[in-house]
Amino acid sequence: MEIEEFRRLGHEVVDWIADYRARTSRGELPVMSRVTPGDTRAAFPAAPPAEPQSLDAALDELTRVIVPGCTHWQDPRFFAYFPSNSSLAAVLGDFLSTGLAQLGLNWQASPALTELEELTTDWLRQMLGLSGAWSGVIQDTASTATLVALICARERTTDYAAARGGLQASERPLVVYASSQSHSSVEKAALLAGFGRENLRVVAVDDRFGMSAEALRRAVAADKAAGRLPCAVVATIGSTATTAVDPLEEIAGVTRAQGLWLHVDAAMAGSAMILPECRPLWQGIEAADSLVLNPHKWLGASFDCSTYFVRDPQHLVRVMSTNPSYLRTAADAKVRNFRDWGIPLGRRFRALKLWLLIREQGVQGLQRRLRRDLEHARWLAAQIDSTPGWQRLAPVPFQTVCLRHVPPGLQGEALDTHTLGWVRRINESGRAYLTPAMLGEHWMVRVSFGVEATEHEHVAALWRQMRDEAERGGPAVR
Ligand SMILES: Cc1ncc(COP(=O)(O)O)c(C=O)c1O
Repeated sequence: MEIEEFRRLGHEVVDWIADYRARTSRGELPVMSRVTPGDTRAAFPAAPPAEPQSLDAALDELTRVIVPGCTHWQDPRFFAYFPSNSSLAAVLGDFLSTGLAQLGLNWQASPALTELEELTTDWLRQMLGLSGAWSGVIQDTASTATLVALICARERTTDYAAARGGLQASERPLVVYASSQSHSSVEKAALLAGFGRENLRVVAVDDRFGMSAEALRRAVAADKAAGRLPCAVVATIGSTATTAVDPLEEIAGVTRAQGLWLHVDAAMAGSAMILPECRPLWQGIEAADSLVLNPHKWLGASFDCSTYFVRDPQHLVRVMSTNPSYLRTAADAKVRNFRDWGIPLGRRFRALKLWLLIREQGVQGLQRRLRRDLEHARWLAAQIDSTPGWQRLAPVPFQTVCLRHVPPGLQGEALDTHTLGWVRRINESGRAYLTPAMLGEHWMVRVSFGVEATEHEHVAALWRQMRDEAERGGPAVR
């Protein structure tokens, strides 16, 4: 593509995105996509074009075919999964990253990429109230960061077995501990890091869905007694189903006493720690070895932007580094080479989106938005608590409310059918989007706040619609 053609089309693309975001923020499209499997693919030729094509036609197809195949995460009536990708400042950062076309193989390959990543992760560290003992790096996802954490834990416990015979050489199986509410990425990381499913202990939770430190203590003692080698605990701050909080300070009491690695998964809710009033919820964080939180979730950065913080970067580098001759430079002794801070060699200029997001919003702007979202959750929780027939199923420490509508006499499978029915009707209406999830044996509904455009009127409208669909089995005539 010629530069001038890029300039022309680029302006059109920005206009197109601005129009799309304006439409979604006004709630003009059905929130959940209505396509059926195969629709999008079938709209295009199965074979690639043989001759060059004009991209003007592609922009038209974006509007006609791609948009209907999208669920609109920035619609103010999106209350599903978790908030993500919201800030337009971060969108510009991502554009610039792609336009600058840097590849951070080492510091010298792009000094600015490396140093802006150091700077922005350190800004974030300060915003979270973490001590200067932490160093940060941007990974793609929390899943990758947790895998890196468990590999580092494994290597610390085995005194760098990977450099010798690997896990094949260890006499005692290494064990990882996480609660029954931990994210599936923890199990995946434990499997990929070679621990084996048999050596992942699922620790019981208390009635607030946080890990029981007592159950952890007992599990560690039992494993030691059986000749196994306890290695790492993954604690969650803001679990996926209910945003439950594991008691870090008590867990750290166990990990410190037993010399275990403590990794904290705060992928979704960690952003709340930019609010000083939320920090008591992760009291004990300074005793952890590693921490992951995703600015691409509630904070508003565009995917992918997952920040991984460690207290011992030298250990991380020792575990992750490779040093092929073509990547060595004279600067190596004085700089960070982020390829040694994780799994991939090449890295994108991800720091740009975090840099623009934090500059454009300022810490106080981000804090105001998160406080507003917490208030939305508290307001809905108060409606649920005061309305007969509705049940709130978990504490609301952050921006997610877990609930059920329970008509008199309905339970078990019939209640599940009722729950899934009213959520489906809401989602198919296109006027809101919610995620049902299992809590224990039964279905519940998660209402997750955090889209930039969501204001109180949207929350109040959702509550009216929930009552219409659940209590009356369909929209009331108003
Ligand atoms: C608590 C928690 N951990 C980890 C993840 C996985 O995040 P990622 O997609 O960045 O791997 C999620 C995603 O929902 C999550 O809620």
